[in-house]
Amino acid sequence: MQKEDLNFFRKWFWNYVDDFSSADSFIYDNIGMKIEHTTKVCENIVLLAKSETVGEEGCRLAETIALFHDLGRFEQFTKYKTFKDSDSENHALLGIKILKRKGILSRLSRNEKSLILKAVEYHNLKEIPGCIIDSKELLFYSKLIRDADKLDILRLISENYDEGGKVRNPALDIYLPDTTGCTESIIKDILNNRMADIKDVKNLNDLKLLRLSWIFDINFQATFSILKESVVKVYLILQIGQTDTKYV
Ligand SMILES: [Fe+2]
Repeated sequence: MQKEDLNFFRKWFWNYVDDFSSADSFIYDNIGMKIEHTTKVCENIVLLAKSETVGEEGCRLAETIALFHDLGRFEQFTKYKTFKDSDSENHALLGIKILKRKGILSRLSRNEKSLILKAVEYHNLKEIPGCIIDSKELLFYSKLIRDADKLDILRLISENYDEGGKVRNPALDIYLPDTTGCTESIIKDILNNRMADIKDVKNLNDLKLLRLSWIFDINFQATFSILKESVVKVYLILQIGQTDTKYV
């Protein structure tokens, strides 16, 4: 992939998201949040790629994956007003459909195109499918986007909690109730060093715990270092600590 290809993708992305500007402030704010998220995930992925001594062409590939990883979010939120895939549709697959429909990746080689589409498809799965274990390149880029994405979601929600509940965004909390207690299976997963399952999430505490459990799905040393330096986990833990620890 050449420099011009990445410039073309960046330009296309900005034109594309421009169409989602809305007079409805709830949609406008959440679309804006996703644009900012994409920008940060692009920065994160290049940082992580460089820490793994990926060359310039590989960094461009990584940035393209990050640029398009949440492409489906814009249509999803405008149409359904939610980021919850199970209440709308899988945003990764929706993004792939858009990329294919618009023919955006046609300027790339077959291998690059397939790698980008697959890495986008795998970015929001609970686990990377075991069948790609031998596809070293795909596995690597899939891990990169998953780490880069998680880093920024943790930043985003941490900032949201840090604002003291005054301006909480219900879309970010996927409309979960702020009740006391948490689900036992989520605690069990964490105690067994496993990532919790979104299907078990019943309230806000569960969602916070689920996001904390992502620590068991971090792939790169550089991601750990960034997390360690940030205040993300402090805010999350403090917020959970404010509620009773009864099970729901
Ligand atoms: Fe996503």
